[in-house]
Amino acid sequence: MTSNLEAQLLALRQQGEQAIAAANTLERLEELRVSYLGKKGELGALLRSMGQLSAEERPIIGAIANTVKESLQTSLDQQRATLEAAQIRSQLEAETLDVTMPGIYRPQGRIHPLNGIIDRALDIFVSMGYTVAQGPEMETDYYNFEALNTPPDHPARDMQDTFYLPDGNLLRTHTSSVQIRYMEREEPPIRVVAPGRVYRRDNVDATHSAVFHQIELLAIDEGLTFTDLKGTIKVFLQTIFGELPIRFRASYFPFTEPSAEVDLQWNGRWLEVMGCGMVDPNVLKAVRYDPEIYTGFAAGFGVERFAMVLHQMDDIRRLYASDLRFLQQF
Ligand code: DAH
Repeated sequence: MTSNLEAQLLALRQQGEQAIAAANTLERLEELRVSYLGKKGELGALLRSMGQLSAEERPIIGAIANTVKESLQTSLDQQRATLEAAQIRSQLEAETLDVTMPGIYRPQGRIHPLNGIIDRALDIFVSMGYTVAQGPEMETDYYNFEALNTPPDHPARDMQDTFYLPDGNLLRTHTSSVQIRYMEREEPPIRVVAPGRVYRRDNVDATHSAVFHQIELLAIDEGLTFTDLKGTIKVFLQTIFGELPIRFRASYFPFTEPSAEVDLQWNGRWLEVMGCGMVDPNVLKAVRYDPEIYTGFAAGFGVERFAMVLHQMDDIRRLYASDLRFLQQF
């Protein structure tokens, strides 16, 4: 009896250890633990048959059973540790990041030089308390010319060769039209800056484009003088271009009186950069502001011109060509 049970116990150990060593998943290992050492497991079944043993035999077999149990438990623990380590290792390998792999190249976007100038100009005027406004690119004759003191037969219309539309409307030739639209819906005091696209029937060449951009400036208040105009323009130009000499040269625009053109000394030459003046009383009357109470100044300039001077460009067409070799320089 003793030797029989002893043999069965030793066989169970051998069989168990082989099965445990062959287990290659943690799930399989758990199954083996249950089937050998679990409550209804094989070792338990053998031990239950110990009841048939004599009192002398029982402690001997009991001791053997204990060593079998311990050694199976040890094997299970070791195999579990081995499998867990392998699992962590393979997970680490699967999740490795190879920092030497080439990255994914995405070209970086940039601000177009025209938008760059517009942004800077608006920032400067906004910092002086101006509001940004916009108006339509398709305009009526009234907003583009007539309300700006430029009646139909006025010779100044020749200064701006206009695209007329079949319905009698036109493509605005300047952003000055926004002055009228803004004054019609607001009351003084006014400080407004209006960027936008404008159109002229010009032949396209290195310095002309049929479509270009302007920024318009308008201030209306009680007691504004030409000094306010000069100070504003000077601060603006010197913020953009640096502390360069500027000069105001008498000029003519229908919507301002007096009018001036502003020149900037750039690389030893005087460059004309903008038009300006004190708002003509007729313009104020067109929007029913009382010229006896209010005065104001206005100015307008071409964004392309600024960009070309600032970035020393030789050809206005580069600004519209979408050539990345050009655009990536900014
Ligand atoms: N509108 C003019 C142009 O396109 C520029 C201009 C001149 C705007 C004088 C003004 C101004 O507001 O006062 O040539």
